[in-house]
Amino acid sequence: MNANTVPASSENISRAAELLRTGGLVAFPTETVYGLGADATDGRAVARVFAAKGRPRFNPLIVHVPSLAEAEVIGEFDARARTAAREFWPGPLTLVLRRQAASRVALLACAGLDTVAIRAPAHPVAQELMRQASRPLAAPSANRSGHVSPTLAAHVAAELGNRVALILDGGACSVGLESTVLDLSSGAPTLLRPGGVTLETLSALLGDIALAGGDPSAPRAPGQLASHYAPTLPLRLDATTAMPGEALLAFGRETPTGFAEMLNLSESGDLAEAAANLFALLRRLDRPQFAGIAVMSIPERGLGRAINDRLRRAAAPRG
Ligand code: TXA
Ligand code: MG
Repeated sequence: MNANTVPASSENISRAAELLRTGGLVAFPTETVYGLGADATDGRAVARVFAAKGRPRFNPLIVHVPSLAEAEVIGEFDARARTAAREFWPGPLTLVLRRQAASRVALLACAGLDTVAIRAPAHPVAQELMRQASRPLAAPSANRSGHVSPTLAAHVAAELGNRVALILDGGACSVGLESTVLDLSSGAPTLLRPGGVTLETLSALLGDIALAGGDPSAPRAPGQLASHYAPTLPLRLDATTAMPGEALLAFGRETPTGFAEMLNLSESGDLAEAAANLFALLRRLDRPQFAGIAVMSIPERGLGRAINDRLRRAAAPRG
């Protein structure tokens, strides 16, 4: 285990908060995936996040806050945004809103846009860390840019090692997929990234939601580039039969045979269990002894939509 990885005890959370207040980078668990946190109001700390991840500077970060009260001074909430925040916060939903003119959040965190992405995570360690740091935290997923997101502290250590001052180990992330990104900054609510809160649940509360996409060269969420969340091995989707040397990422009880190895996202066909297992199992199968990773098809409903989004990007031609 990496020397920077420590259990998320209250003592270590205090240490992490102090590191954040002095411009350091701290990886911490949320219910979705691990985040790489920095003081969002400190432009130099935010710049270190981009450097540590190798992230393009046109791709803005999510600003994390404990609750709606802290979010209101950062983004412009209308009635619709307040309704969404009251229903889903704390939780796996990120809202893209117009940025408050007087916001102290560093412009770099928003990549110079006049909008800001805000989320209140539910994980008790994230909540305690934000309260002790008493400032908003800019935090992308704690992986190298373009790679699979981390759902265990060990994944963060493998990806970022000593590029981060401290990794708070809070165990496995319960949701396992990144937050849903919903744009409420103009006109119709638009889904920029499917995630932990399903489209069905959002539409039940907010009515019709437009789906972003269409022109992949001009993504609405700058992070939604075609190739992303990518393991090293090639991925083959909707697999029904084995190809030589392939490992299988299975779903459900009825699985094809003849693969070099098989791991199952959820034998009972449960999409929440599959989401929670997705990134960790992809990492476990991403070994040079296999020719590739074949993935069985996943139903395109509920959390299956977010799972398929990540799988399609992981399978996309590498840029
Ligand atoms: O679950 C999550 O959301 C995790 C945890 C750590 O909170 N964070 C995460 O951050 O996934 P990241 O940086 O890997 O993804 C943030 C996404 C990117 O696709 C980015 O382009 C989009 O949010 N985004 C951020 N600010 C935006 C803005 N102002 N307008 C549109 N999209 C934005
Ligand atoms: Mg990410």
